Formats: sequence, C-alpha cells, structure tokens
Amino acid sequence: MSSSSNNKKLLAWVDEIATLCQPDNIVWCDGSDEEWDAMWDIMVKGGTARKLNEDKRPNSYHVNSIPADVARVEDRTYICSAKEEDAGPTNNWFDPAEMREKINGMFSGCMKGRTMYVIPFSMGPVGSDIAQIGIELSDSPYVVTNMHIMTRVGQNVLDVLGEDGEFVPCVHSVGVPLAEGETSEPWPCNPDNRYIVHYPETREIWSFGSGYGGNALLGKKCFALRIAGTMARDEGWMAEHMLILKLTNPEGEVKFVAGAFPSACGKTNLAMLTPTIPGWKVETIGDDICWMKFGEDGRLYAINPEAGFFGVAPGTSMQSNANAMLSLESNAVFTNVAETDDGDVWWEGMTEEAPAHLIDWKGNDWTPDSDEPSSHPNARFTARANQCPVIADEWEDPKGVPISAILMGGRRASVVPLVTEALDWNHGTFLGTIIASEMTAAAFGKLGELRRDPMAMLPFCGYNMADYWGHWLKMGQTEGAKMPKIYYVNWFRKNEAGKFMWPGFGENSRVLKWVFERCNGTADAIETAIGNMPTLDAIDFDGLDMAKEDIANLMRVDTDGWLSELAGIEEYYATFGDRLPEELTHQVNALRERLEDSKQAVA
Ligand code: OXD
Ligand code: MN
Repeated sequence: MSSSSNNKKLLAWVDEIATLCQPDNIVWCDGSDEEWDAMWDIMVKGGTARKLNEDKRPNSYHVNSIPADVARVEDRTYICSAKEEDAGPTNNWFDPAEMREKINGMFSGCMKGRTMYVIPFSMGPVGSDIAQIGIELSDSPYVVTNMHIMTRVGQNVLDVLGEDGEFVPCVHSVGVPLAEGETSEPWPCNPDNRYIVHYPETREIWSFGSGYGGNALLGKKCFALRIAGTMARDEGWMAEHMLILKLTNPEGEVKFVAGAFPSACGKTNLAMLTPTIPGWKVETIGDDICWMKFGEDGRLYAINPEAGFFGVAPGTSMQSNANAMLSLESNAVFTNVAETDDGDVWWEGMTEEAPAHLIDWKGNDWTPDSDEPSSHPNARFTARANQCPVIADEWEDPKGVPISAILMGGRRASVVPLVTEALDWNHGTFLGTIIASEMTAAAFGKLGELRRDPMAMLPFCGYNMADYWGHWLKMGQTEGAKMPKIYYVNWFRKNEAGKFMWPGFGENSRVLKWVFERCNGTADAIETAIGNMPTLDAIDFDGLDMAKEDIANLMRVDTDGWLSELAGIEEYYATFGDRLPEELTHQVNALRERLEDSKQAVA
C-alpha cells in the first residue's frame, strides 16, 4: 500500500507541509482495498469505528463523532481573497496575509504523534478533460476511507498528474497533536479552533480542527464548489451545487437534467427517483455537484466530480429512497447513527417502527420512549455511486453528458408554483438568484422569513455572489452557446390548511415528463408574467389522487404575492452594491411590469 510521484511541485509541497506539521510518519495512499482495511483496523483498535455485522452489511463501518463536531461550520469558513470585495457580502472574508500567519501558527507541529496521509484524488473520471486533480494531506484515517468512496484515489491519479501537472493543494488536520506516548481520542478534533480556509487566487484549501464531512473531505464543498467555482469563472465553465439525472421516455429517448436545490431539499431523492408514471425511467449521474463545460456543439456537458454519496441518513428508507438504501448495503460508512443489537445501524425514519432497543449515536441505551432521537439529524451515510442500482451507464463518461434542462427551487409554502419555465437563459438566471426557503423552525430565525440561497450556492460560492451571477449571464452570451432550458420548481407549496399540496418523491416524475416534452417542443405552456406555465392538462396527473382545487392552486400565479416579493428581492440585490449585474435590475423591473400588466388585464 503506497503510491509515488515524480511531480516536483508535489514533492516539494509534501516536504514543506511535513516540516510545518511534524507528523511521525508520512504515508502515500493508493486507494486499494488493503489500504481501506488497514485504515479501519487502526480506527477499530483506536475505538473510533465499529465493524458492522458482516452478514448484515458486509465491509461496512460505523463511526460516531463528538457532539461538538457534527456538521459543516459555515461561520468558521473563510474566503481569503486579496480584496474583501472579491469575497462579497455572503462570505466570511479574512485578510490572506493575516490568515497565513494564523495558519502557520496553528499547523505548526499539529500532526505530532500522528501519520500524515498523502491522498491523491481525482474529481471526475481520471483523465477526463472536465476532471481536476487534488492532493489532500490529512492526519485522519477516517478522511482517507471516506475519500476512497467520495473521490477516485490512487496511483493512476499521480500518473495523470505526471512530472509537472497542476493540482489543488488541500491540507487538513484534526488539530490535536499527541505528546510522546499519548494515544489519540476516538474522535480527535479541536472545536474551539476550527478554520476552513480557502485562498481562491492561489487555489489552496486549509482546514483545521474538524474531522467531519464537508469540513474534512476537502474534495467536496471546498474544492468541487468553492475553489472549482473560481476556476470555472476564470476558464469559462460552471461548478454547481446540482444533481444530474438521466431521464428516458417510454420510446427510449434520453435527456439529461441537472438540478440545484438547497441542502436538505431532497436532491439525493430526486436524483434516484422511481417514477410513478408508466414507462418513464430515471437514472443517476450525481446527487450533489455538477461541473459543466461547453462541448464543440455549443451544449453544456456535465460530469459528476464525485464517486460516492455523502447523504443525510435520517428520513432515508425503502419508501423514501430505495435506491439509496440499496447503495449502502455494503462497503459503506455510517456516521452518527444508532447501533442495533444485531450489529447493524438504524436511524429515524429507516423503518416505520423503531427497534425496541438501540445504542444511540452518543453511546447511550435508547428505546422508543427516549426523549432524544437515536441518530443525529445530520447523521450521514457514505456510499459508493457504482453500487446505486440506478446509476446510469454514462456516469463515468469522461466527455460528460449534454444537459437539456436545469431545475432550480427552494422550499416555499406560498407564492411559487409547482413549475415555471424561464423565458430564456437570463430570466432563468434571475430565477436562480431568487431561490429562497421559508424558515421552518423558530430557532433558525423568524418563522416564515426567507433565507435566500441563490442557485443553492449560498455557503458554497467561493467569490462575490454578484460576480457569480455575472458569470452565469456571460456563459449564456458565449458565441454558439446552446444553453439548457431553466425551470423553477417548488415541491413544498401548502394549501390554506397548511398541508403540502404536492406529494413529491416519485410523483415528481410528472414534472420531469413535462420538462422533457418542453425540451422536445411537444408539451403545451402558456406565457404568464412569471414565465411559461404548463396548461392544466399539460402535466400528466393520471392516477394521482389529488383534489382539483389543489392542482389549480399548485399552478396558480399569485400576482399579488409576486408583487410583494419584489421589494425583498431589490433589498437583497442592494447588498451587492454596484457589483450587481445590470441585467438583474432589468429582470426585476421587467417582472414588475409584466405583473402589473397582467393585473390590469384581469381588472
Ligand atoms: C451537503 C450539503 O452535504 O449540501 O451536500 O450540505
Ligand atoms: Mn450539497
């Protein structure tokens, strides 16, 4: 188990970081099964992990973090661009020179008593023109195993890198050096000193103090979105927080659809959906991130830069997402879930009835009468994409797949209808900028207040959000570009009784069908003030047990509701000052005019 490289920059950098962090050993990872076993051996012996019952879930492991380290830490995530205005109002900015000093202090000797793993990884099929290479240096064996699943790790990555290829350097430490002879805590971390740092200009990532998810698996949000986003802006491509699915109609015709939805809005479920309409098929390319580049035909070709799913476990069941459940039957990692008495895992929502006894994620006995959930609400599974029963044949195609449509949406109880087709790319970009979700729990802000999450990128845009919108608009103006159609969807509209009107899940295939047929020019729509909407009979509601008023309500254009949104949008736009692309001001004004005209027409 080891790999090697003759890349001069890489060798010098590994030396430099080892001198700074002072690990006891350096191991070059090769992504092999032996390496996987060796890492788990260390973690099982160290009390970090438990091997699950081999008969129930072969080659799978369960790990619990500590309660202080359970999620991405957005307030400790920094964009250190040379100029503050280049990070923009939605990011935490920190002066890069000052941050470098801080980092030097923090990382100095931080890996004492530990091993530094050199993890060469490819985001995207190794060698694809759209893929990128990163090297993560980490002192966490948990990170090594998760990177095995989430990315492509191995000697072949170093071979593609060659003697002078470019890579994104990613340094990660749990931030807990060990004294001579001291053994590690099962979940070492340094929660009071967490820093997730990005230098967009030099394309570097430094992460300190957390072992969890997006804070530590640096290929995902840090690289594939924040750093890749700045590369994409500079090089004329797109790095987006989007699922990618393959949609096949009953005649066997195929279209690829991407979708941007904020975290916890069901992206994984949509990417693996089982259609309820006969003859239609959905297959998965990716569930979280999408990189798109123009092909010679002017269309956008997308790859999933990841190789696995880091999905939220609670709520995932054979009913809600059978394909996810089947993906994690073996070779999987479970973090912060509960243990069953027969050596398996369980989480809230996995089965209708909870087991009579569990050990919860904090290590305590648990019964259905316990006051707290058995699993942390952000408990995760890490599962290999190639184990998904509906993974599409094209999922590793190095050319990527041509995207016909992009869906975007948040969680809106009111105003936003089930589906609206953007009038054109610029209008679709505008709709992306106004994605928002209503706060659902008072604890997260005022009930009903909107959290804006443009293109579902609020925590993931590595530069000024207004410039990012400008980049979207510019992509649409590229000579010869044939941009995807854009659809604004909302699965979460409620009726007057406060009940969700749309059943969601597999029924979303009805909306996908309309999108597919619109792309082919065979489905009807009417132009309204807010965009093109399906006529009442254009969406296939056959066999759906839904009240007629609910269907009409789901598709209703709430003219007054939209008019009253405009002030909030303008207020939000104003926070970006003169960086806001003029086109977006034009879009708000044009929308206002269309809404007022339609109101007059009705009057
Ligand atoms: C994720 C997220 O984990 O968006 O994918 O938070
Ligand atoms: Mn995500």
